[in-house]
Amino acid sequence: MSELVFDSVSVRYGRMTAVDGVSLTVPAGKVVGLVGESGSGKSTLARAAVGLSPVSGGRVLLGGTDVRQLPRRRPLQMVFQDPYSSLNPRMTIGESITEAMPRGAFPGRAARRAEVARLLELVNLDPDRAEHLPGQMSGGQRQRVALARALAGQPDALIADEITSALDVSVQGAVLNLVRSVQRQLDLSMLFISHNLAVIRYLSDLVAVMYLGRIVEAGPAEQVLTDPQHPYTRDLLDAAPSAHKPLFDLEPSTTADAEPPDPHHPPAGCRYHPRCPVGPLVRNDRELCLRADPAEDAAPRRHVAACHFSESGGHEPAISRGASV
Ligand SMILES: Nc1ncnc2c1ncn2[C@@H]1O[C@H](COP(=O)(O)OP(=O)(O)OP(=O)(O)O)[C@@H](O)[C@H]1O
Ligand SMILES: [Mg+2]
Repeated sequence: MSELVFDSVSVRYGRMTAVDGVSLTVPAGKVVGLVGESGSGKSTLARAAVGLSPVSGGRVLLGGTDVRQLPRRRPLQMVFQDPYSSLNPRMTIGESITEAMPRGAFPGRAARRAEVARLLELVNLDPDRAEHLPGQMSGGQRQRVALARALAGQPDALIADEITSALDVSVQGAVLNLVRSVQRQLDLSMLFISHNLAVIRYLSDLVAVMYLGRIVEAGPAEQVLTDPQHPYTRDLLDAAPSAHKPLFDLEPSTTADAEPPDPHHPPAGCRYHPRCPVGPLVRNDRELCLRADPAEDAAPRRHVAACHFSESGGHEPAISRGASV
C-alpha cells in the first residue's frame, strides 16, 4: 500500500481544459470515491495517473515517486468500465493474466500457472477458467478477470473507473463485494469512480466531488454525504434515486436542471454559479460568485468545499475555501 497523490494535475485536450489543477490524495490503504456528473473529468483524471491522458501540468505520485519514474513492476493498476473491450479476445484468460505479471516474478511455467490459479481464486473464479477465452464468459466474470489481471501486477494502488456500470444489476453487488474484500485483504489504496452514490457510500472512506474539471468538495465519506457543504454536492445527493422518492419528480427543482456549462468556456468566478440554487441567480447579494473563484486560496483541511457560501445559503461569505485535500 502506498499513498497516491494528484498534485495540481491538469489535462488539456486542444484548448479545452478537462482537468484543471486537481490536487487529491488517496491515503495508503484507503478508498477515495470520486463522483461528479458526466463530462466532469473523472476518467481523464484517473487516466492521467496511468499515462493514458496527456498531463499538461502537475504530477501524480505513488508512495512519493512520480508515476512516470515507476519501475517495470506495475504498482499502479486501473480497471475500466467495459469488460468486453479490456481483454484481448484471442488470448486465454490465463495468458492475459500471465502477461500482466511483473517480469521475472514467477520463473517457470508451473509457478506462473499456480499464480494464475491463485489470482482466479482470489476473484472467486474457478482456476479451470484459465483455459477459456473471454468470449466464453459473462460480463461479470470478465470484470473479475480484469480485476485478477490488474492484481497480477502486484499493485499498491488501484483505480477503478465505473467498473460495475456496464454490468447487469444482478451481478453488480457481487463484484462490489469482491472489490471491497480484495481492497481490504491486500490493503490497497484505491480511487473508485462511480456515478452511483449508494455504491460510493458503500465503499469509500473519503469522497471527492468533481465539477467541470475541478474537485469542488472533498472529505470523509460520512461528512460529505450527510453534511455536504457545496451546493453542487447537495444537488447531486438530491438527484440521487432513493427508496423514499418517486422515480420521476414532477416538481422541477429551480436550477439544478439547467444545462451543464460548456467545458470549452467555463464560467468566470465560481464555475457552478449559473446552476447554483444559493448563488447569484436566485440571490442578488451574491455577485461575489460571479467574479471570485472560490477554488483559489486553497487551504488544506479535512472537509473542504470550494464555495463562498458553503454553509447552506448562510448570509455571510465563508472564508474562501480551496479544495485541495
Ligand atoms: N480523448 C479526448 N479528446 C478530447 N476530449 C476528451 C477526450 N477524453 C475526454 N474528453 C473530454 O474531456 C471532458 C471530461 O471527460 P471525462 O471522460 O473525463 O469525463 P467523466 O467525468 O469521466 O464522464 P463520464 O461520467 O461520462 O464517464 C469531457 O468534456 C470530454 O468530452
Ligand atoms: Mg468517465
